[in-house]
Amino acid sequence: MAHFASKTRYDQMKYKRCGKSGLLLPAVSLGLWHNFGSKDDFQTMKEILLRAFDLGITHFDLANNYGPSPGSAESNLKSVMQSELAPYRDELIISTKAGYLMWDGPYGEWGSRKYLMASLNQSLKRMGLDYVDIFYSHRPDPDTPLEETMMALHSAVQQGKALYVGISNYDAEQTTRAVDILEQLGTPCLIHQPRYNMFDRWVENGLLDVLEKRGVGCIPFSPLAQGLLTDRYLNGIPEGSRIASESIFLNKENLDPDTMVKVKALNQHAEQRGQTLAQLALAWILSRKQITSVLIGASSVAQMEANAATVNNLDLSRDELAYIENILV
Ligand SMILES: NC(=O)c1ccc[n+]([C@@H]2O[C@H](COP(=O)([O-])OP(=O)(O)OC[C@H]3O[C@@H](n4cnc5c(N)ncnc54)[C@H](OP(=O)(O)O)[C@@H]3O)[C@@H](O)[C@H]2O)c1
Repeated sequence: MAHFASKTRYDQMKYKRCGKSGLLLPAVSLGLWHNFGSKDDFQTMKEILLRAFDLGITHFDLANNYGPSPGSAESNLKSVMQSELAPYRDELIISTKAGYLMWDGPYGEWGSRKYLMASLNQSLKRMGLDYVDIFYSHRPDPDTPLEETMMALHSAVQQGKALYVGISNYDAEQTTRAVDILEQLGTPCLIHQPRYNMFDRWVENGLLDVLEKRGVGCIPFSPLAQGLLTDRYLNGIPEGSRIASESIFLNKENLDPDTMVKVKALNQHAEQRGQTLAQLALAWILSRKQITSVLIGASSVAQMEANAATVNNLDLSRDELAYIENILV
């Protein structure tokens, strides 16, 4: 039976314009990189997605390879869309990406037209959708002409398979060139998806300036540093946490003494503000004028609800920002 969405779903969330486009995105968006694969509990992921929508989180972010197994997050989204959210398709912004390894042979990764077009077709099939709202080049390809990669994004829009296009993990110089090419093609670059959080601030070195100048939106991923910038690891490594269950992208070496001193000081400041560390970390990113939305992950409904509630306490004074800066040095 289709989900009966909450009537109050647009009461709390804030929506921000994506660059100089016509598109508004929720200040908090939900990513399906972890916790939505074939090994994860389907009921939990369904509850996270439905509750997110009921809280005004209208944007779900995917990629061809999200799982594991690769592709399974898209397949799981299809199940939830078809059984629950189909009546609300026009209220949702669904994105996917291509760039990382997806299948064997020379056409299964990077930035060729061959790979991007085939991958988008596969993603649409897996998600059971006619189109995605945003199609991304997931990473720059050093060996494919940027013109070819951008032309493939442009074609996706022309073919009606994507409404908007974006880039992810491109540096400031690559972004400038990509934005120029897309502009010439007549398909503006809507959005950039870089990693950005209190512990990883590379985007402040030029990229945010380019995005602001060119009117491109910005949706940082891993805004909680995969859980480091939360209360998750304040008292060790809990069972079921990302560090306990995998070691590729986050492991116990990330909980070094220097990091934990900062996490504890930030946590104390968050408590003084009457919010959680996760909420402070998200509010800190959203205080940057170039940021459209923060792209969170969540392994439970409670985490997602807490992160969505960030919008109730976004104000950070100059003194507070300076205080945080002192903790982070
Ligand atoms: N473009 C790219 O290259 C790229 C790369 C990475 C990610 N992304 C996108 O960004 C999205 C988010 O990435 P991410 O999952 O690394 O983001 P994140 O928000 O930094 O980390 C999410 C993890 O933090 C923990 N967490 C979240 N909220 C919490 C809370 N309120 N209290 C305590 N712990 C909390 C959970 O860890 P536990 O699992 O331990 O509970 C959760 O799985 C992805 O799903 C994907 O859409 C894009």
